[in-house]
Amino acid sequence: MSRTPLIAGNWKMHLDHLEAIALVQRLAYSLEPADTDAADIVVVPPFTALRSVSTLIEGDRLPLGLGAQDCHWESAGAYTGAISPPMLVKLRVSYVLCGHSERRALFGDTDEVVNRKVRAVLAAGMTPILCVGETDEQREAGDAEAVVTTQVRAGLSGVDAARAATLVVAYEPVWAIGTGKTATSDDADAMCGSVRGVVGELYDGGVAERVRVQYGGSVKPGNAADLLGRPQVDGALVGGASLDAEDFAVICKAARR
Ligand code: PGA
Repeated sequence: MSRTPLIAGNWKMHLDHLEAIALVQRLAYSLEPADTDAADIVVVPPFTALRSVSTLIEGDRLPLGLGAQDCHWESAGAYTGAISPPMLVKLRVSYVLCGHSERRALFGDTDEVVNRKVRAVLAAGMTPILCVGETDEQREAGDAEAVVTTQVRAGLSGVDAARAATLVVAYEPVWAIGTGKTATSDDADAMCGSVRGVVGELYDGGVAERVRVQYGGSVKPGNAADLLGRPQVDGALVGGASLDAEDFAVICKAARR
């Protein structure tokens, strides 16, 4: 079964809404129909730019998906500063990052919190991108697979098979994020395959075949083709390089395979 690659650009805490519009316009100009036919291409701006980018995508019928970087697990309530899944749905957001390593390390997102978010995103009809990955020390200690297995199992707790098949897992080794260090394509392939194996154990082979597993961590124009050419790697979650329209477009083109 062939899975459509998903290339997502996580802009993190960069770009105000005017800069966001300019970047999406440049990106749309750089992409060809063959690129958006071959892969699902998604931009993940900060909350403050979602409305502007959503309006631009809708108004110009751009072949781009829209994602959010996080959300709360409740639909509404006294959660000052938080954004709920239904609010994102109203803005035509269809993907939400859950458990990005920066959320886990800097904002206290535990596996349990991440699982609540995954379930809330699914319940709202959007696709979670469940982010998992080991730290440098964990890899050195030979625990990379065990750490990632625990994160995948916890992230999917209480998710039924039909919904699990629709989701995306992003394998992002923490030591590769924003560092310029990339996993070798062999390691990325092996770890994405291991994530798929865990999904197969939790559900069945059919779900494992459908779930998309991306690699993330210093994906650049120079290494994208090698990473995306691997059979277990169903796309990329791109941070830094997604802030440059031309670089991101080159990465998207590398997904034509
Ligand atoms: P990076 O970030 O591409 O800048 O390493 C990846 C991510 O955090 O998703």
